[in-house]
Amino acid sequence: MLIDGHGRKVSYLRISVTERCNFRCQYCMPDKPFSWVPKENLLSFEDLFLFIKAGIDEGINKIRITGGEPLLRADLDKFIKMISDYRADLDLALTTNAYLLKPIAKKLKDAGLKRLNVSLDTLKPAIAQKIAQKDILKKVLEGIEEALRVGLKVKLNSVPLKGINDSEIIDLLEFAKSKNMNIRYIEYMENKFAKDKLQGLSAQEVQDIIATKYSFKSVGRVESSPAHLFELEDGYRFGIIDPHKHDFCEDCNRIRLTAEGMLIPCLYFDEALSIKESIQKGDVQGAVKVLKEVLANKPEKNKWSSDDENETSQRAFYETGG
Ligand code: 5AD
Ligand code: SF4
Repeated sequence: MLIDGHGRKVSYLRISVTERCNFRCQYCMPDKPFSWVPKENLLSFEDLFLFIKAGIDEGINKIRITGGEPLLRADLDKFIKMISDYRADLDLALTTNAYLLKPIAKKLKDAGLKRLNVSLDTLKPAIAQKIAQKDILKKVLEGIEEALRVGLKVKLNSVPLKGINDSEIIDLLEFAKSKNMNIRYIEYMENKFAKDKLQGLSAQEVQDIIATKYSFKSVGRVESSPAHLFELEDGYRFGIIDPHKHDFCEDCNRIRLTAEGMLIPCLYFDEALSIKESIQKGDVQGAVKVLKEVLANKPEKNKWSSDDENETSQRAFYETGG
């Protein structure tokens, strides 16, 4: 079992397999970075798998593959199969923008993937084009349809932005509900890469909008998820993630690995250590030692405390997979 310096059990590993992305979402990667990490600096799937096996043996029972956009990395289905074959009962999930999903959804499902989180901020092609700076919506919706068709569970992530998609909160909820998908609204997190004029809606503002049409009750958080859940009268549940509060830090169970092999204990802090050197020379125990050191120093809570509002993250979300 992996326990951090504050007594929290850590069982959830998020792995970013690439920082590259084919979208330029205004809140994440509006401009192409000055330079990408060269491909040869990325950990290979074989090396990542060495670390993953050791992590699973130490108590990791949930893995999420993220990016950038993870479907940009070739042979992702084979990587998923390697992981799934090692531990079939692992909760194995992927976060994607779904642009490249349609042709590979079945392969991912057959490889052992269980769940998908898809970013969907709007149902209007022109707004999607504005947010992602590319004509994306048709392919994204086709990707979602195909994933559902092949039997993957899909959850939607939406970032509500003032004057951009804030009129679609209810439409997105109804879209998700009609297809039996969960939806989570994520408060926009300020970061130095995002377009600076952006303004997000607060969790309360999202609730107020939904309350104009539906009655719902608060269910709270379940199983270390950062999302606060709400339940409509017919039992359908939606979530809101409010990173500006840090009430979800107290039972945080996660750790992140970047495509270059940096282990990041908390999204909001710069501290991180690399497993790359150890893992590339086959020293798995060395990498596990680094993992334990990172866990021992995992911060107690994120930096966005209420008395220090609007602190800006210095690390790009596309490096850490959000
Ligand atoms: N604020 C909130 N959510 C963000 N994401 C990326 N950048 C931000 C941000 N600045 C979310 C997207 C996507 C996931 C990968 O991260 O909604 O679903
Ligand atoms: Fe790419 Fe997702 Fe960032 Fe948009 S939010 S730029 S899709 S990584």
